[in-house]
Amino acid sequence: MSAPVLEARGLVKYYPIGGGPLRRVAGQVKAVDGVDLTLGPGETLGIVGESGCGKSTLAKVLAALERPTAGEVTVCGRPVGRLRGRALRRARRDVQLVFQDPYTSLDPRMTIEAIVREPFEIHRDLAPRGDRRARVRELLETVGLNPDHCGRYPHQFSGGQRQRVGIARALALRPRVLVCDEPVSALDVSVQAQIVNLLERLRDELDLAYVFISHDLSVVQHLADRIAVMYLGKVVEIGGEDDVYRNAGHPYTQALLSAMPVPDPGLRGRREEIVLTGEPPSPIDPPRGCSFHPRCWKADERCRAEPPALTAWRGAGHAVACHRPEVWSPAGGTEGEVSATR
Ligand SMILES: Nc1ncnc2c1ncn2[C@@H]1O[C@H](COP(=O)(O)OP(=O)(O)O)[C@@H](O)[C@H]1O
Ligand code: SF4
Ligand SMILES: [Mg+2]
Repeated sequence: MSAPVLEARGLVKYYPIGGGPLRRVAGQVKAVDGVDLTLGPGETLGIVGESGCGKSTLAKVLAALERPTAGEVTVCGRPVGRLRGRALRRARRDVQLVFQDPYTSLDPRMTIEAIVREPFEIHRDLAPRGDRRARVRELLETVGLNPDHCGRYPHQFSGGQRQRVGIARALALRPRVLVCDEPVSALDVSVQAQIVNLLERLRDELDLAYVFISHDLSVVQHLADRIAVMYLGKVVEIGGEDDVYRNAGHPYTQALLSAMPVPDPGLRGRREEIVLTGEPPSPIDPPRGCSFHPRCWKADERCRAEPPALTAWRGAGHAVACHRPEVWSPAGGTEGEVSATR
């Protein structure tokens, strides 16, 4: 594989929570708790997990909008934490974030032109002043918007069009990587596919790599080459599309898959839905051992005591953080216990 465009090693992000009148730190929210990821050029890595598992925090740390508590993010071979000045600005340019909510992420008082033009005012070397207008028009065309509408305000656009504006702004800096944080979750289902198709076209035209975040496995499946499943700040399973969708080894992945709609009518009814009870535990005080154990139907003494490491399992590039991974596919249920290859 060619050199990665984005890498995370041992990434940790804790948020201190203040308590009481003396504002002492009362605890920490362990939003991201030891994540390793690699993204190759042109690749799409999907990240899925329930609300609150740390996806947005991971997105912000990957895009260098927030500093990690520990660990390192590397952009095109450059460790972001050790960069200063121009080199840091360059690395930040290479990884851009597309936000979840196109209704709140665009300043309502700015015209579309001003919004898409803003990155050029910050990174002045990117385009000479006289060229900026033309660049903005070109970017609007690239994302399928009419450049003649650049004098309009966000409220004059639909949700899907606003997300296109957000994508145009992210593309202004000619990034190598777009981190898309639930880019279609706030949109109507009919519009979701249009935005996913747009991202797909841009990936091919502009040679972009994506980190594509969603709480919805079916949205990610269409786009991603590899998928990472997060639970309470950790990656619990990672692998290629086939590994995760057809041979999921982690009980949590299996539960997410079993809740997905089945497109093939022949398979409907043959599948048992795994219903997870309870909410995910608090990331302030995650359970000991395997953090999934309070909701896992297979949990035993070892699970309650010893945290499972993300370990290679079956195919190349497929890894599972579970003491007792089992093959499971959405159509057929489990195949019996298979021991991990260590
Ligand atoms: N700035 C912050 N300060 C304190 N806690 C935060 C902050 N941002 C996120 N969190 C907490 O971190 C956890 C992960 O949040 P988030 O990354 O937004 O998850 P997701 O995007 O998967 O829903 C949540 O418990 C959330 O409440
Ligand atoms: S380690 Fe144990 S509790 Fe955790 S997912 Fe695997 S079987 Fe379930
Ligand atoms: Mg989020």
